[in-house]
Amino acid sequence: NTTEKKRKDTTKLKLILKLEKKNFNRGLGKHTHHRAAVKMLPTFVTATPDGTEKGDFLALDLGGTNFRVLHIRVNEDEQRVMKSQNCAIPQEMMVGTGEQLFDHIAACLGEFVNSQDLKGQTLPLGFTFSFPCEQKEIDKSILIRWTKGFNCSGVEGEDVVKLLKEAIHRRGDYDIGSVAMVNDTVGTMMSCGYKDQSCEIGMIIGTGTNACYMEELKNVKRVEGMEVKEGENRRMCINTEWGGFGDDGALKDILTEYDEEVDRTSINPGIHTFEKMISGMYLGEIVRLVLVKLTQEKLLFNGETSKALLTPGTFETRFISEIEKEDKGVENTKKILADLGLTSNAVDLHIVRLICDTISSRSARLCAAALATIVNRIRVNRKLDHLKTTVGVDGAVYRKHPNFSEELQDMVRRLAPQCDINFIVSEDGSGKGAAMVTAVLCKKKFKRLNEFNCA
Ligand code: GLC
Repeated sequence: NTTEKKRKDTTKLKLILKLEKKNFNRGLGKHTHHRAAVKMLPTFVTATPDGTEKGDFLALDLGGTNFRVLHIRVNEDEQRVMKSQNCAIPQEMMVGTGEQLFDHIAACLGEFVNSQDLKGQTLPLGFTFSFPCEQKEIDKSILIRWTKGFNCSGVEGEDVVKLLKEAIHRRGDYDIGSVAMVNDTVGTMMSCGYKDQSCEIGMIIGTGTNACYMEELKNVKRVEGMEVKEGENRRMCINTEWGGFGDDGALKDILTEYDEEVDRTSINPGIHTFEKMISGMYLGEIVRLVLVKLTQEKLLFNGETSKALLTPGTFETRFISEIEKEDKGVENTKKILADLGLTSNAVDLHIVRLICDTISSRSARLCAAALATIVNRIRVNRKLDHLKTTVGVDGAVYRKHPNFSEELQDMVRRLAPQCDINFIVSEDGSGKGAAMVTAVLCKKKFKRLNEFNCA
């Protein structure tokens, strides 16, 4: 019975909400953040855009198998991508040396600067680097650890901005202005914030998953030297790195044998437990493991597996979206299974669709619980009975899946009934947003403005 199931699901998710709240506090605490599973990283972004920012900026966006270089013009009414270029990152490079990776990035950036006739202009650069970093300043950011299949040597523990600048200097054929480092969640929040000034949360559900939000500076106990006077409402954007939720065992009661297997066979076992239940890099593999198990138990495909089905990584996450499509779903399922060398009947097709639905719904609902924790937190921080807020969102899972966004939104509304939440999908968000962070820095009379080269 659906109502009963929904009630049980909501109770379970409320428990997660409680756990997550505890984790958030631990991550922000002065003495507890070192050991926290949810890192709650300060970003040094203390202002969202007010719509008056302008200028020309370069943006670099690195976070997956591609990276992008963009030339962005910000003016009163738009953030325009003047030109952009995608550069692939070969699989070997994702697990090679850091020097190779940064040389490759510097080469692509160089090619772009030359082709755009921007040479000699030393434009400020917004650098979206979508991995957990301990940010010391807006332009000093130490990589804590790689996630999402990257594992380049010599980068963890190092300042990523420095590595980028060194690679550019090794070439010596062009230069850049000051660099502002941002996480993709921050970029997404900032790019939406240009249109909607109540946007104070950024969320990604793509290859990985994560969110950032504007926290009261007085609660960010782990940053020293930013004292807040009584009655002042200063804020700082916090990159939660919620993907790490559960790394201390907090989720063990809800992990399935499939989650455990995905973790065990990943390149970073024990790390980013929550992310591995939610994001695009892992959802397809979870479905594959369920299919293998049910086939071996003779509940699917007449008990016959195939070589492809038994090979890790063959069931791509995008198949889930194809299979769950309302109109063409059955047809798509048939084709996908046939391509995997499986013979299916009508019942098999139905079961496979049900499995995909279960796995993607679980992902949407877990994200909803985490997001509800954030919106409730903002509401309580501001001592409001009712909060109206906007979330900027990006990521292929959220964008491409036929009913993921709807399911997530319904569940957040159920879990945070005192919050009225508007969702905006961000276009080119992480790149544009990095330019926005740079634009805000260039405009504001910040203490360090003299050092921030905005030529
Ligand atoms: C991973 C990264 C995080 C990023 C997210 C989405 O969780 O650790 O920094 O924001 O993926 O790309």
